[in-house]
Amino acid sequence: MHDWNQGQPTTRGRPRVVDETLRDGLQSASVVEPPIDRKVALLHQMARIGVDCVSLGLPAAGPRALRDAVALGREVEAARLPFTCTAAARTTEGDVLAVVEVSQRAGRPVEVYAFIGSSPIRRYVEGWTLELLRGRVLASGEVARRAGVPFCLVLEDTTRTPPDTLRAMFQAAVDVGARRVCLCDTVGHADPHGVEALVRFARQALTELGAPATELDWHGHDDRGLSLANALAAARAGVDGVHGTAGGVGERCGNTAMEHLVVALSSEFDRACPPSRAIDAYSALARAALLGPTRFDEPLDRLTLHVNGAPVDVATRPSRTLLELLRYDLGLIGTKQGCDKGDCGACTVLVDGEPVLACLTLALGCEGAHVTTVESLNGAPRLDPLLDAFDRRGAGQCGFCTPGMLMASKALLARDRAPSRQAIREAICGNLCRCTGYGAIVDAVELAARLASGDDPAAPERPNEPAPHRPYGRRGA
Ligand code: FES
Ligand code: FES
Repeated sequence: MHDWNQGQPTTRGRPRVVDETLRDGLQSASVVEPPIDRKVALLHQMARIGVDCVSLGLPAAGPRALRDAVALGREVEAARLPFTCTAAARTTEGDVLAVVEVSQRAGRPVEVYAFIGSSPIRRYVEGWTLELLRGRVLASGEVARRAGVPFCLVLEDTTRTPPDTLRAMFQAAVDVGARRVCLCDTVGHADPHGVEALVRFARQALTELGAPATELDWHGHDDRGLSLANALAAARAGVDGVHGTAGGVGERCGNTAMEHLVVALSSEFDRACPPSRAIDAYSALARAALLGPTRFDEPLDRLTLHVNGAPVDVATRPSRTLLELLRYDLGLIGTKQGCDKGDCGACTVLVDGEPVLACLTLALGCEGAHVTTVESLNGAPRLDPLLDAFDRRGAGQCGFCTPGMLMASKALLARDRAPSRQAIREAICGNLCRCTGYGAIVDAVELAARLASGDDPAAPERPNEPAPHRPYGRRGA
Protein backbone atom coordinates (compact mmCIF):
# COMPACT_ATOMS: atom_id res chain seq x y z
CA MET A 1 0.00 0.00 0.00
CA HIS A 2 1.21 3.51 -0.69
CA ASP A 3 0.32 6.21 1.86
CA TRP A 4 0.26 9.64 0.27
CA ASN A 5 0.00 11.17 3.72
CA GLN A 6 3.51 10.11 4.58
CA GLY A 7 6.63 12.02 3.74
CA GLN A 8 5.23 15.51 4.30
CA PRO A 9 8.01 17.76 5.54
CA THR A 10 7.71 18.59 9.23
CA THR A 11 10.12 20.86 11.00
CA ARG A 12 10.00 19.19 14.42
CA GLY A 13 8.76 16.01 16.12
CA ARG A 14 5.26 15.28 17.37
CA PRO A 15 4.08 18.18 19.54
CA ARG A 16 2.86 17.54 23.05
CA VAL A 17 -0.90 17.24 23.39
CA VAL A 18 -2.53 19.67 25.79
CA ASP A 19 -5.99 18.77 27.13
CA GLU A 20 -8.07 21.87 27.82
CA THR A 21 -11.34 20.07 28.61
CA LEU A 22 -11.34 21.14 32.25
CA ARG A 23 -10.77 24.79 31.32
CA ASP A 24 -11.91 25.76 27.82
CA GLY A 25 -14.33 22.81 27.72
CA LEU A 26 -16.12 24.07 30.81
CA GLN A 27 -16.63 27.47 29.16
CA SER A 28 -19.08 25.90 26.72
CA ALA A 29 -22.61 27.18 27.27
CA SER A 30 -23.89 23.60 26.88
CA VAL A 31 -22.07 21.78 29.66
CA VAL A 32 -22.31 21.53 33.42
CA GLU A 33 -19.44 21.82 35.91
CA PRO A 34 -18.75 18.18 36.83
CA PRO A 35 -18.18 17.12 40.44
CA ILE A 36 -14.53 16.63 41.36
CA ASP A 37 -14.68 12.81 41.31
CA ARG A 38 -15.72 12.93 37.66
CA LYS A 39 -12.95 15.38 36.83
CA VAL A 40 -10.47 13.04 38.50
CA ALA A 41 -11.81 10.05 36.55
CA LEU A 42 -11.43 12.04 33.34
CA LEU A 43 -7.87 12.93 34.29
CA HIS A 44 -6.97 9.24 34.49
CA GLN A 45 -8.57 8.60 31.13
CA MET A 46 -6.54 11.44 29.60
CA ALA A 47 -3.41 9.56 30.62
CA ARG A 48 -4.62 6.50 28.69
CA ILE A 49 -5.06 8.36 25.40
CA GLY A 50 -1.62 9.96 25.35
CA VAL A 51 -2.30 13.45 26.68
CA ASP A 52 0.99 15.10 27.74
CA CYS A 53 -0.23 18.18 29.53
CA VAL A 54 -3.50 19.01 31.25
CA SER A 55 -5.13 22.30 32.14
CA LEU A 56 -6.40 22.25 35.73
CA GLY A 57 -8.84 25.11 35.11
CA LEU A 58 -9.02 28.82 35.84
CA PRO A 59 -8.37 28.90 39.60
CA ALA A 60 -9.11 32.62 39.99
CA ALA A 61 -12.67 32.04 38.78
CA GLY A 62 -13.85 31.32 42.34
CA PRO A 63 -13.39 29.16 45.44
CA ARG A 64 -14.66 26.01 43.76
CA ALA A 65 -12.40 26.47 40.73
CA LEU A 66 -9.42 26.92 43.06
CA ARG A 67 -10.34 23.90 45.20
CA ASP A 68 -10.83 21.67 42.16
CA ALA A 69 -7.56 22.78 40.54
CA VAL A 70 -5.68 21.94 43.75
CA ALA A 71 -7.41 18.53 43.99
CA LEU A 72 -6.58 17.73 40.37
CA GLY A 73 -2.96 18.80 40.79
CA ARG A 74 -2.67 16.61 43.89
CA GLU A 75 -4.16 13.67 42.01
CA VAL A 76 -1.65 14.07 39.18
CA GLU A 77 1.10 14.08 41.78
CA ALA A 78 -0.22 11.23 43.93
CA ALA A 79 -1.07 8.91 41.03
CA ARG A 80 2.13 9.87 39.19
CA LEU A 81 0.13 10.62 36.06
CA PRO A 82 2.49 11.35 33.16
CA PHE A 83 1.41 14.96 32.74
CA THR A 84 2.73 18.42 33.09
CA CYS A 85 0.07 20.78 34.44
CA THR A 86 -1.09 24.24 33.43
CA ALA A 87 -3.77 26.57 34.73
CA ALA A 88 -5.25 29.64 33.08
CA ALA A 89 -5.03 33.18 34.38
CA ARG A 90 -5.80 36.63 33.11
CA THR A 91 -2.71 38.83 32.98
CA THR A 92 -3.35 40.15 36.47
CA GLU A 93 -1.41 39.66 39.66
CA GLY A 94 -4.39 38.09 41.47
CA ASP A 95 -4.99 35.49 38.77
CA VAL A 96 -1.32 34.54 38.58
CA LEU A 97 -1.16 34.24 42.36
CA ALA A 98 -4.12 31.85 42.25
CA VAL A 99 -2.11 29.56 39.93
CA VAL A 100 0.91 29.91 42.22
CA GLU A 101 -1.29 28.80 45.13
CA VAL A 102 -2.44 25.76 43.15
CA SER A 103 1.17 24.90 42.40
CA GLN A 104 2.20 25.20 46.04
CA ARG A 105 -0.75 23.29 47.50
CA ALA A 106 -0.60 20.56 44.87
CA GLY A 107 3.12 20.16 45.43
CA ARG A 108 4.05 20.25 41.78
CA PRO A 109 4.86 22.90 39.15
CA VAL A 110 1.83 24.37 37.43
CA GLU A 111 2.58 26.56 34.44
CA VAL A 112 0.70 29.86 34.27
CA TYR A 113 -1.14 30.24 30.95
CA ALA A 114 -1.77 33.98 31.15
CA PHE A 115 -4.07 35.22 28.42
CA ILE A 116 -4.63 38.61 26.84
CA GLY A 117 -6.08 39.77 23.52
CA SER A 118 -4.09 42.07 21.28
CA SER A 119 -5.99 42.06 17.98
CA PRO A 120 -7.10 45.48 16.70
CA ILE A 121 -10.77 44.70 17.28
CA ARG A 122 -10.18 43.75 20.91
CA ARG A 123 -8.01 46.76 21.52
CA TYR A 124 -10.61 49.03 19.94
CA VAL A 125 -13.42 47.57 22.04
CA GLU A 126 -11.45 47.65 25.29
CA GLY A 127 -9.61 50.90 24.59
CA TRP A 128 -6.28 49.15 25.21
CA THR A 129 -2.97 50.61 24.05
CA LEU A 130 -0.03 48.44 23.12
CA GLU A 131 1.88 49.83 26.09
CA LEU A 132 -0.93 48.82 28.44
CA LEU A 133 -0.89 45.29 27.03
CA ARG A 134 2.87 44.99 27.33
CA GLY A 135 2.73 46.39 30.85
CA ARG A 136 0.21 43.78 31.91
CA VAL A 137 2.31 40.97 30.45
CA LEU A 138 5.46 42.24 32.14
CA ALA A 139 3.74 42.71 35.51
CA SER A 140 1.98 39.34 35.57
CA GLY A 141 5.01 37.52 34.21
CA GLU A 142 7.11 39.07 36.95
CA VAL A 143 4.72 37.69 39.59
CA ALA A 144 5.15 34.20 38.12
CA ARG A 145 8.92 34.61 37.87
CA ARG A 146 9.24 35.67 41.50
CA ALA A 147 7.13 32.68 42.58
CA GLY A 148 9.25 30.34 40.47
CA VAL A 149 6.42 29.00 38.29
CA PRO A 150 6.77 28.78 34.50
CA PHE A 151 4.94 31.38 32.43
CA CYS A 152 3.25 31.07 29.06
CA LEU A 153 1.86 34.12 27.26
CA VAL A 154 -1.45 33.18 25.61
CA LEU A 155 -2.26 35.66 22.84
CA GLU A 156 -5.99 35.55 22.20
CA ASP A 157 -7.03 36.16 18.60
CA THR A 158 -3.42 35.91 17.37
CA THR A 159 -4.70 35.01 13.91
CA ARG A 160 -6.07 38.55 13.45
CA THR A 161 -3.21 40.45 15.07
CA PRO A 162 -0.77 42.43 12.88
CA PRO A 163 2.92 41.42 12.80
CA ASP A 164 4.20 44.58 14.51
CA THR A 165 1.87 44.09 17.46
CA LEU A 166 2.85 40.45 17.70
CA ARG A 167 6.55 41.33 17.67
CA ALA A 168 5.97 43.77 20.53
CA MET A 169 4.04 41.16 22.52
CA PHE A 170 6.69 38.50 21.85
CA GLN A 171 9.30 40.97 23.08
CA ALA A 172 7.33 41.34 26.33
CA ALA A 173 7.16 37.55 26.66
CA VAL A 174 10.92 37.28 26.11
CA ASP A 175 11.63 40.13 28.54
CA VAL A 176 9.73 38.35 31.27
CA GLY A 177 11.37 35.01 30.58
CA ALA A 178 8.27 33.22 29.27
CA ARG A 179 8.87 29.56 28.59
CA ARG A 180 6.31 29.57 25.85
CA VAL A 181 3.91 31.62 23.72
CA CYS A 182 0.52 30.22 22.81
CA LEU A 183 -0.79 31.25 19.38
CA CYS A 184 -4.59 31.28 19.40
CA ASP A 185 -7.28 31.19 16.79
CA THR A 186 -9.83 32.19 19.39
CA VAL A 187 -12.59 33.01 16.91
CA GLY A 188 -11.97 30.17 14.45
CA HIS A 189 -10.83 32.59 11.76
CA ALA A 190 -7.71 30.91 10.40
CA ASP A 191 -7.22 28.41 7.61
CA PRO A 192 -4.27 25.99 7.42
CA HIS A 193 -2.19 28.28 5.16
CA GLY A 194 -2.63 31.14 7.59
CA VAL A 195 -1.68 28.92 10.49
CA GLU A 196 1.54 27.82 8.81
CA ALA A 197 2.42 31.41 7.95
CA LEU A 198 1.76 32.53 11.52
CA VAL A 199 3.85 29.75 13.06
CA ARG A 200 6.74 30.47 10.68
CA PHE A 201 6.50 34.17 11.51
CA ALA A 202 6.43 33.53 15.28
CA ARG A 203 9.42 31.21 15.12
CA GLN A 204 11.41 33.71 13.07
CA ALA A 205 10.45 36.65 15.30
CA LEU A 206 11.42 34.82 18.49
CA THR A 207 14.75 33.85 16.93
CA GLU A 208 15.40 37.47 15.96
CA LEU A 209 14.58 38.48 19.53
CA GLY A 210 17.30 36.14 20.73
CA ALA A 211 14.88 33.58 22.18
CA PRO A 212 14.80 30.70 19.67
CA ALA A 213 14.16 28.19 22.46
CA THR A 214 10.87 29.81 23.43
CA GLU A 215 8.27 27.16 22.70
CA LEU A 216 5.07 27.66 20.74
CA ASP A 217 1.60 26.23 21.46
CA TRP A 218 -1.38 26.22 19.14
CA HIS A 219 -4.94 26.68 20.43
CA GLY A 220 -7.62 26.74 17.72
CA HIS A 221 -11.40 27.00 17.72
CA ASP A 222 -13.82 25.37 15.35
CA ASP A 223 -16.12 28.15 14.18
CA ARG A 224 -15.50 27.28 10.52
CA GLY A 225 -14.99 23.55 11.03
CA LEU A 226 -11.24 23.89 10.40
CA SER A 227 -9.86 23.35 13.89
CA LEU A 228 -8.44 19.86 13.29
CA ALA A 229 -6.92 20.83 9.93
CA ASN A 230 -5.47 23.93 11.55
CA ALA A 231 -4.06 21.95 14.47
CA LEU A 232 -2.34 19.59 12.04
CA ALA A 233 -1.01 22.53 10.02
CA ALA A 234 0.40 24.04 13.21
CA ALA A 235 1.96 20.71 14.16
CA ARG A 236 3.51 20.35 10.72
CA ALA A 237 4.83 23.89 10.88
CA GLY A 238 6.62 23.02 14.08
CA VAL A 239 4.69 24.11 17.16
CA ASP A 240 5.65 22.34 20.38
CA GLY A 241 2.14 21.86 21.74
CA VAL A 242 -1.37 21.52 20.33
CA HIS A 243 -4.56 21.97 22.35
CA GLY A 244 -7.81 20.05 22.24
CA THR A 245 -10.85 19.19 24.35
CA ALA A 246 -13.02 16.13 24.76
CA GLY A 247 -15.58 16.06 21.98
CA GLY A 248 -14.36 19.51 20.91
CA VAL A 249 -16.47 21.23 23.59
CA GLY A 250 -15.48 24.78 24.32
CA GLU A 251 -16.42 28.41 23.96
CA ARG A 252 -19.04 29.08 21.25
CA CYS A 253 -18.53 26.53 18.45
CA GLY A 254 -15.92 24.65 20.42
CA ASN A 255 -12.33 23.58 20.15
CA THR A 256 -10.39 20.79 18.41
CA ALA A 257 -11.80 17.38 19.35
CA MET A 258 -9.16 15.54 21.37
CA GLU A 259 -10.40 12.16 20.12
CA HIS A 260 -9.55 13.19 16.54
CA LEU A 261 -6.41 15.07 17.46
CA VAL A 262 -4.60 12.18 19.15
CA VAL A 263 -5.37 9.85 16.24
CA ALA A 264 -4.43 12.39 13.57
CA LEU A 265 -1.16 13.29 15.28
CA SER A 266 -0.22 9.63 15.70
CA SER A 267 -0.67 9.06 12.02
CA GLU A 268 1.04 12.32 11.07
CA PHE A 269 4.13 11.66 13.18
CA ASP A 270 4.21 7.91 12.74
CA ARG A 271 3.58 7.12 16.37
CA ALA A 272 1.48 4.33 17.89
CA CYS A 273 -2.16 5.32 18.03
CA PRO A 274 -3.86 5.20 21.44
CA PRO A 275 -6.17 2.16 21.69
CA SER A 276 -9.62 2.94 20.34
CA ARG A 277 -11.14 1.42 23.51
CA ALA A 278 -9.33 4.07 25.56
CA ILE A 279 -10.47 6.86 23.26
CA ASP A 280 -14.08 5.63 23.41
CA ALA A 281 -13.92 5.43 27.19
CA TYR A 282 -12.46 8.97 27.39
CA SER A 283 -15.22 10.26 25.15
CA ALA A 284 -18.01 8.51 27.06
CA LEU A 285 -16.65 9.64 30.40
CA ALA A 286 -16.36 13.23 29.23
CA ARG A 287 -19.90 13.19 27.86
CA ALA A 288 -21.29 11.84 31.12
CA ALA A 289 -19.27 14.34 33.18
CA LEU A 290 -20.00 17.41 31.09
CA LEU A 291 -23.62 16.82 30.20
CA GLY A 292 -24.69 15.83 33.74
CA PRO A 293 -28.05 14.19 34.35
CA THR A 294 -30.04 14.30 31.14
CA ARG A 295 -32.74 16.91 31.10
CA PHE A 296 -35.19 14.30 29.87
CA ASP A 297 -35.04 12.74 33.36
CA GLU A 298 -36.73 15.79 34.84
CA PRO A 299 -40.37 15.54 35.96
CA LEU A 300 -42.86 17.55 33.95
CA ASP A 301 -44.78 20.47 35.42
CA ARG A 302 -48.04 21.99 34.22
CA LEU A 303 -47.80 25.49 32.80
CA THR A 304 -50.63 27.78 31.78
CA LEU A 305 -50.08 31.13 30.12
CA HIS A 306 -51.27 33.23 27.20
CA VAL A 307 -49.25 33.45 24.02
CA ASN A 308 -50.27 36.13 21.53
CA GLY A 309 -53.63 36.31 23.27
CA ALA A 310 -54.41 32.58 23.08
CA PRO A 311 -54.51 30.40 26.21
CA VAL A 312 -51.79 27.73 26.35
CA ASP A 313 -51.73 24.77 28.72
CA VAL A 314 -48.66 22.52 28.43
CA ALA A 315 -46.54 20.09 30.45
CA THR A 316 -42.92 21.20 30.50
CA ARG A 317 -39.61 20.47 32.23
CA PRO A 318 -38.31 22.86 34.90
CA SER A 319 -35.19 23.58 32.82
CA ARG A 320 -37.15 24.50 29.67
CA THR A 321 -36.53 28.09 28.65
CA LEU A 322 -39.28 30.29 27.30
CA LEU A 323 -37.39 30.32 23.99
CA GLU A 324 -37.40 26.51 23.78
CA LEU A 325 -41.07 26.41 24.72
CA LEU A 326 -42.01 28.91 22.01
CA ARG A 327 -39.89 27.44 19.23
CA TYR A 328 -39.92 23.72 19.91
CA ASP A 329 -43.15 23.08 21.82
CA LEU A 330 -45.45 25.70 20.31
CA GLY A 331 -43.84 25.96 16.85
CA LEU A 332 -43.47 29.76 17.05
CA ILE A 333 -40.15 29.90 15.24
CA GLY A 334 -40.27 33.63 14.51
CA THR A 335 -38.38 34.18 17.77
CA LYS A 336 -34.74 33.47 16.93
CA GLN A 337 -32.19 31.43 18.86
CA GLY A 338 -28.95 33.30 18.39
CA CYS A 339 -26.29 33.14 21.08
CA ASP A 340 -28.62 31.35 23.55
CA LYS A 341 -26.85 33.08 26.44
CA GLY A 342 -28.17 36.61 26.64
CA ASP A 343 -25.71 38.39 24.36
CA CYS A 344 -27.54 39.09 21.11
CA GLY A 345 -31.19 39.97 21.82
CA ALA A 346 -32.48 37.91 18.86
CA CYS A 347 -34.82 36.04 21.22
CA THR A 348 -36.53 39.16 22.62
CA VAL A 349 -40.25 38.71 23.34
CA LEU A 350 -42.66 40.61 25.56
CA VAL A 351 -43.81 39.18 28.88
CA ASP A 352 -46.67 41.22 30.26
CA GLY A 353 -45.60 44.00 27.92
CA GLU A 354 -41.94 44.09 28.99
CA PRO A 355 -39.13 42.97 26.67
CA VAL A 356 -37.28 39.92 28.01
CA LEU A 357 -34.62 37.61 26.63
CA ALA A 358 -36.50 34.36 26.12
CA CYS A 359 -33.26 32.34 26.16
CA LEU A 360 -32.62 33.42 29.75
CA THR A 361 -36.22 33.13 30.96
CA LEU A 362 -37.49 29.86 32.38
CA ALA A 363 -40.82 28.86 30.88
CA LEU A 364 -42.24 27.94 34.28
CA GLY A 365 -41.49 31.47 35.46
CA CYS A 366 -44.15 32.67 33.00
CA GLU A 367 -47.06 30.97 34.76
CA GLY A 368 -50.16 33.10 34.12
CA ALA A 369 -48.23 35.65 32.02
CA HIS A 370 -49.15 37.18 28.68
CA VAL A 371 -46.34 36.48 26.22
CA THR A 372 -46.19 38.35 22.92
CA THR A 373 -43.98 37.18 20.08
CA VAL A 374 -43.11 38.57 16.66
CA GLU A 375 -45.88 36.46 15.11
CA SER A 376 -48.40 38.83 16.74
CA LEU A 377 -47.30 41.70 14.48
CA ASN A 378 -48.76 40.12 11.40
CA GLY A 379 -52.23 39.98 12.91
CA ALA A 380 -55.58 41.27 11.75
CA PRO A 381 -57.01 43.73 11.10
CA ARG A 382 -53.88 45.36 9.66
CA LEU A 383 -50.18 44.83 9.40
CA ASP A 384 -48.38 46.27 12.38
CA PRO A 385 -46.81 49.67 11.51
CA LEU A 386 -43.43 48.29 12.60
CA LEU A 387 -43.47 45.58 9.93
CA ASP A 388 -44.65 48.09 7.38
CA ALA A 389 -41.90 50.55 8.33
CA PHE A 390 -39.14 47.90 8.41
CA ASP A 391 -40.21 46.89 4.94
CA ARG A 392 -40.27 50.45 3.59
CA ARG A 393 -36.92 51.38 5.11
CA GLY A 394 -35.16 48.16 4.17
CA ALA A 395 -34.34 47.61 7.84
CA GLY A 396 -33.80 43.86 7.57
CA GLN A 397 -30.82 42.44 5.73
CA CYS A 398 -30.24 38.81 6.69
CA GLY A 399 -33.16 39.23 9.09
CA PHE A 400 -31.69 37.32 11.99
CA CYS A 401 -31.88 40.17 14.46
CA THR A 402 -35.18 41.46 13.08
CA PRO A 403 -37.67 39.66 15.39
CA GLY A 404 -35.76 40.85 18.45
CA MET A 405 -35.47 44.38 17.07
CA LEU A 406 -39.18 44.42 16.32
CA MET A 407 -40.20 43.29 19.79
CA ALA A 408 -37.84 45.67 21.57
CA SER A 409 -39.28 48.46 19.41
CA LYS A 410 -42.83 47.29 20.04
CA ALA A 411 -42.30 47.72 23.79
CA LEU A 412 -40.80 51.17 23.19
CA LEU A 413 -43.71 52.39 21.05
CA ALA A 414 -46.18 51.09 23.61
CA ARG A 415 -44.73 53.43 26.24
CA ASP A 416 -43.59 56.30 24.00
CA ARG A 417 -45.64 57.09 20.90
CA ALA A 418 -43.12 59.54 19.47
CA PRO A 419 -39.67 58.44 20.66
CA SER A 420 -36.57 60.43 19.83
CA ARG A 421 -33.81 58.77 17.80
CA GLN A 422 -31.78 58.56 20.99
CA ALA A 423 -34.65 56.78 22.77
CA ILE A 424 -34.89 54.34 19.87
CA ARG A 425 -31.18 53.63 20.03
CA GLU A 426 -31.43 53.02 23.76
CA ALA A 427 -34.41 50.70 23.32
CA ILE A 428 -32.53 48.49 20.84
CA CYS A 429 -29.10 48.78 22.42
CA GLY A 430 -29.29 45.19 23.69
CA ASN A 431 -29.99 43.85 20.21
CA LEU A 432 -27.02 43.05 18.01
CA CYS A 433 -27.31 43.31 14.25
CA ARG A 434 -24.45 41.37 12.71
CA CYS A 435 -25.24 43.01 9.36
CA THR A 436 -24.82 46.33 11.20
CA GLY A 437 -27.94 47.90 9.69
CA TYR A 438 -28.63 50.03 12.73
CA GLY A 439 -29.19 53.25 10.78
CA ALA A 440 -32.05 51.81 8.74
CA ILE A 441 -33.53 50.17 11.84
CA VAL A 442 -33.65 53.49 13.72
CA ASP A 443 -35.20 55.09 10.60
CA ALA A 444 -37.81 52.33 10.52
CA VAL A 445 -38.82 52.64 14.17
CA GLU A 446 -39.12 56.40 13.74
CA LEU A 447 -41.32 55.85 10.68
CA ALA A 448 -43.41 53.24 12.53
CA ALA A 449 -44.20 55.78 15.22
CA ARG A 450 -45.46 58.20 12.54
CA LEU A 451 -47.49 55.50 10.78
CA ALA A 452 -49.06 54.42 14.06
CA SER A 453 -50.23 58.00 14.63
CA GLY A 454 -51.76 58.16 11.15
CA ASP A 455 -49.00 60.31 9.65
CA ASP A 456 -47.82 58.52 6.52
CA PRO A 457 -44.92 60.53 5.02
CA ALA A 458 -45.18 58.70 1.71
CA ALA A 459 -48.88 58.52 1.20
CA PRO A 460 -48.64 57.16 -2.35
CA GLU A 461 -46.58 54.27 -1.03
CA ARG A 462 -48.78 51.40 -0.02
CA PRO A 463 -47.97 48.99 2.80
CA ASN A 464 -46.25 45.89 1.47
CA GLU A 465 -45.11 47.72 -1.63
CA PRO A 466 -41.47 46.71 -2.22
CA ALA A 467 -39.13 49.29 -0.74
CA PRO A 468 -37.37 51.43 -3.36
CA HIS A 469 -33.80 50.40 -4.01
CA ARG A 470 -31.46 52.05 -1.55
CA PRO A 471 -27.71 51.89 -1.82
CA TYR A 472 -25.91 50.20 1.04
CA GLY A 473 -24.11 52.40 3.47
CA ARG A 474 -24.70 54.65 6.38
CA ARG A 475 -28.28 55.90 6.53
CA GLY A 476 -28.13 58.70 9.01
CA ALA A 477 -28.48 56.93 12.38
S1 FES B 1 -30.57 34.13 21.85
FE1 FES B 1 -31.19 35.16 23.62
S2 FES B 1 -29.88 36.85 23.77
FE2 FES B 1 -29.10 35.73 22.07
S1 FES C 1 -30.23 42.17 9.60
FE1 FES C 1 -28.72 40.62 9.74
S2 FES C 1 -28.36 40.53 11.83
FE2 FES C 1 -29.52 42.29 11.63
